Amino acid sequence: MTRAAGFVLLAAAIAQAQVPLGLDAYIPAPENNPLSIEKIALGRKLFFDKRLSRDGSIACASCHDPNLAFSDARPVALGIAGRKGTRRSPRIANRAYGKSFFWDGRAATLEEQVGGPIANPLEMDLPVAEAASRVNLSETELRRALASYVRTILAGDSPYDRFVAGDRTALNAQAQEGLKIFRGKGGCIACHLGPNLTDESFHNTGVGAGDEGRAKWSGRPEDTAAFKTPSLRDVASTPPYMHDGSVATLEDVVEHYNRGGRANPYLDSELHRLQLTDAEKRALVAFLKSLSGTIREGSL
Ligand code: HEC
Ligand code: HEC
Repeated sequence: MTRAAGFVLLAAAIAQAQVPLGLDAYIPAPENNPLSIEKIALGRKLFFDKRLSRDGSIACASCHDPNLAFSDARPVALGIAGRKGTRRSPRIANRAYGKSFFWDGRAATLEEQVGGPIANPLEMDLPVAEAASRVNLSETELRRALASYVRTILAGDSPYDRFVAGDRTALNAQAQEGLKIFRGKGGCIACHLGPNLTDESFHNTGVGAGDEGRAKWSGRPEDTAAFKTPSLRDVASTPPYMHDGSVATLEDVVEHYNRGGRANPYLDSELHRLQLTDAEKRALVAFLKSLSGTIREGSL
């Protein structure tokens, strides 16, 4: 078997596994950009380097703050000179296992993705080549180093992980009840499944208005306002929620699903009224909180 085929098989095995990822999990990388200690260290420096923005005022870490599960606390991103974006900065842990990037999946690789915020006029507003020359790198070197660092950001070791690994005391009774609802009555695992609690696919859950979402890139009307299912790892530490930051708390997220999402012509067929009791809603929130653990970054 070639190395590339090996990676594909392993990534598929990880995507389907019902066991959680560990913090020492294998990190897949493309054949033309294998991970190295040097590249990761360089990428880590660049991630915090404000020279990558036109006026030197923001870095990747301004919106992806390590203390906030590599997200921020704003409903939508804030770029240079107070420029407001239209979407929320996502948490970016375990993206090495991602299949496509951005809320609408428009980037196929992390190497492609990392150039997006640099060039985006509402974010860092600098041609990627110019950003690279500011830090004495070629554009390819810049992209490869940043992508390598992002791949090392791993989330794991949450109470949920310990529970699934066999420690029956890791979740209290309420969180265990929440897990049952997550898997059963709530139907959450139709989309939030596997070790990363995402199918890496796109769904319309009736959030937001006026953003075409996936349809802009796929051209398929049924993808209208469909967004990528986010991983729920460390979700409790990053309100507000959804691609537009329009849902304030986890309690509000649960209410949203309890209503069956918001009706619209492209609403995902998996969503329907859940009729959860107040105790069940609280249990589901307790379970979502159990998905917070340790995030490690910067090493192989
Ligand atoms: C001004 C805030 C801001 C800055 C600066 C920023 N990002 Fe982001 N990042 C976002 C937003 C917003 C999105 C989602 C955009 C979208 O989906 O259209 C995003 C998406 C991502 C994703 C995709 C995650 C996923 O699961 O699809 C990665 C990875 C990422 N950013 C890494 C970086 C890196 C690396 C840098 C620095 C070069 C950076 N970001 C700079 C706000 C920012
Ligand atoms: C049909 C697929 C689907 C189902 C079923 C589903 N989700 Fe989601 N979930 C998504 C998508 C897609 C988003 C992002 C939507 C957006 O931003 O517009 C999301 C977002 C979320 C978020 C916000 C995460 C963040 O970072 O902003 C939470 C929390 C969440 N879901 C929990 C749940 C729970 C709990 C259930 C079960 C009651 C559930 N989901 C059922 C697809 C689904």
